[in-house]
Amino acid sequence: MPKQQPETTAITAGRDASGALSPTIWTSTTWQSHGLDETSKAATSIHQTGNYARYSNPSVRDFERAIAELEGAEDALAFGSGMGAITSIILALCSTGDHIVAQSQLYGGTVSFLNGPCKRLGIDVTFVDGAKPGAFTAAVRPGKTMLVIAESPSNPQMGLVDFAELASIKGPYTVVDSTLATPLGQNPLTHGVSLVVHSATKGIAGHNDATLGVIAGEKDLIDAIWSYAVLHGATASPYDAVNGLRGIRTLGVRLAHQCNTALQLAEALTKQSAVTAVHYPGLSSHPQHALASKQMHHFGSLLSFDIAGGKDAARKVVDGLKLVRPAVSLGGPETLICHPASSTHVGVAPEDQATAGITQGLLRVSVGLESATDVIADFQQVLASL
Ligand SMILES: Cc1ncc(COP(=O)(O)O)c(C=O)c1O
Repeated sequence: MPKQQPETTAITAGRDASGALSPTIWTSTTWQSHGLDETSKAATSIHQTGNYARYSNPSVRDFERAIAELEGAEDALAFGSGMGAITSIILALCSTGDHIVAQSQLYGGTVSFLNGPCKRLGIDVTFVDGAKPGAFTAAVRPGKTMLVIAESPSNPQMGLVDFAELASIKGPYTVVDSTLATPLGQNPLTHGVSLVVHSATKGIAGHNDATLGVIAGEKDLIDAIWSYAVLHGATASPYDAVNGLRGIRTLGVRLAHQCNTALQLAEALTKQSAVTAVHYPGLSSHPQHALASKQMHHFGSLLSFDIAGGKDAARKVVDGLKLVRPAVSLGGPETLICHPASSTHVGVAPEDQATAGITQGLLRVSVGLESATDVIADFQQVLASL
């Protein structure tokens, strides 16, 4: 037999032993034991189901096992959101006086956490340009830097980080937020990175009906983060985990359709005179297209573009679209548009937005599951009317 393809693993992974084809929702928060000794053992065991839901839940565990298999990881740990995952990694592994190297081009919530609570707790953060060769390595302070945090592709500018270079950094744990790619789009761990994190709220669950995060990596590291996470309590709900598993089953076909439409839309946008730049790693004009082709299996369902005329022009585009809906989030069935400077990144200081390439004319599009013809026609009608 040839090696099983990831799209097939998305169907086979995370099954329980019951034979049920649809995942079981375990709603119980607590499990009866056979007495004091068994309760005590369960309370001191790591990541074990059959005790208390904040410690582990069988539905959540099935979702975690599916993600671990798709990412080529020893284990995975789910959270109540992507931010729950990111902040738990940071607070599990960093203490006052430690240092983090992070890329400037990150989801706004992550930037706000690094600039807010981290600094308040005395965790120093150095931001670097993730696309600049050697930038992460140069910023590492031996003995002080605990984490190097990257996001690739980055939200919303679609910049890439070279995983091989990231993995070559010795000392700190290296983390990649791979939300925009999903586990079928790329696998940073296979390049040697320490941890991969997803907001599974996005493409993994894929239907705008689950708030969920997940990390994957070596068992010892996942166990160490679990030991903190069980106290922090950003626990994944079994209902969301089941929706995450359902999303994994159809991720292959959804991603293939969305990536195909995203490329066609990106190409169509480059032909529009009002559009000054299109950011999509699948375009041969993307400055990191060669790297994207090397380390990604799919180029993703998200793209962004700059429109001449700044925020006023951006507003006209958003207001003039008939099919495409104004909303944040990404990876779902509906094509969505948002203005990052005033929404997803509104908490990021204007100078930091500028450093990260978030202009007033930047619009982000999450490509959905409609026909590519209809999505492209909607953009064409609005851009022609400007
Ligand atoms: C790249 C990325 N990481 C993390 C998050 C946070 O995920 P959540 O909203 O599930 O907390 C988001 C949310 O948009 C995101 O786009």
